[in-house]
Amino acid sequence: MKIITTIKEIRAALNQEKKSGKTIGFVPTMGYFHEGHLSLMRKAKENCDVVVTSIFVNPIQFGPSEDFETYPRNLKNDSKMAEEVGVDYLFLPSVEEMYSGECLAYVDVEKITKVLCGANRPGHFRGVATIVSKLFNIIQPDFVYFGEKDYQQLVAIKKMVDDLNFDIQVVGVPIVREKDGLAMSSRNKFLGLREREAALVLNKSLNLASEMVKNGEKDSIVIKKAMKRLIKKEPLVNLEYLSICDNIYLQELSKIEENVLIALAARVGKARLIDNVLIEGN
Ligand code: PAJ
Repeated sequence: MKIITTIKEIRAALNQEKKSGKTIGFVPTMGYFHEGHLSLMRKAKENCDVVVTSIFVNPIQFGPSEDFETYPRNLKNDSKMAEEVGVDYLFLPSVEEMYSGECLAYVDVEKITKVLCGANRPGHFRGVATIVSKLFNIIQPDFVYFGEKDYQQLVAIKKMVDDLNFDIQVVGVPIVREKDGLAMSSRNKFLGLREREAALVLNKSLNLASEMVKNGEKDSIVIKKAMKRLIKKEPLVNLEYLSICDNIYLQELSKIEENVLIALAARVGKARLIDNVLIEGN
């Protein structure tokens, strides 16, 4: 695995690969790898000749009171894990490399990014869409891999790729969970023992909702009420939002339709956690 820190060098290396007709798969990340990240790399490895992963904790997608400074980092461990999975290039640019001088051009995906996490994190998705566009322009991949864990991010990136005519195929990869159901996240590191236990209620509430839909419940209000009642049993969990929405524009649905996304965010101690379930074919 080659570790590269400059835009110039990664471009030169990948140009060589492309000249020999190889397809490039790309997995953008902020590091502190777990099985969720690795599943994206494995998928890329299955489909593409060359796999590139980036680690870049992107300052412009964090709000002023968010966890940019304390975001977990462990480059040594990450490079070991990426190498074991078979990643060919690990791109590790510095903040100066990615944002030299004053940045005046941003990418904004409208509508989809104003709801759910976007409602509570103004500017977050603009930061994500901008860094992801920059990375796409640098790497020029054929395929890119995003986790369904960040469903809103996946949908926004798909729309951006469509609307801005990036010649890239976006692949969504299912959520990887711990054995007990907690969605894997770099931020789970912030959870104390009791908080870790309490956080399980998030996945449990999504399972409850899935069951209710399977049993024929069509009323979103009824489902939300049942979920909230369950979540309230864990005082350490502070629900930020709970949404039952369509899976394309993420707009609230009062009645369950054919495909429905149930998504939530909650604060548990120092961690802000998100989780979701997509229920199809209702
Ligand atoms: P990060 O949180 O590091 O996540 C990188 C990728 O891993 C994202 O596509 C995310 O959805 C996926 N991922 C995280 N946890 C997962 C899980 N439990 N199961 C499956 N996939 C999972 O998302 C970002 O970084 C950034 O916003 C980024 C896109 C890199 C832009 O800065």
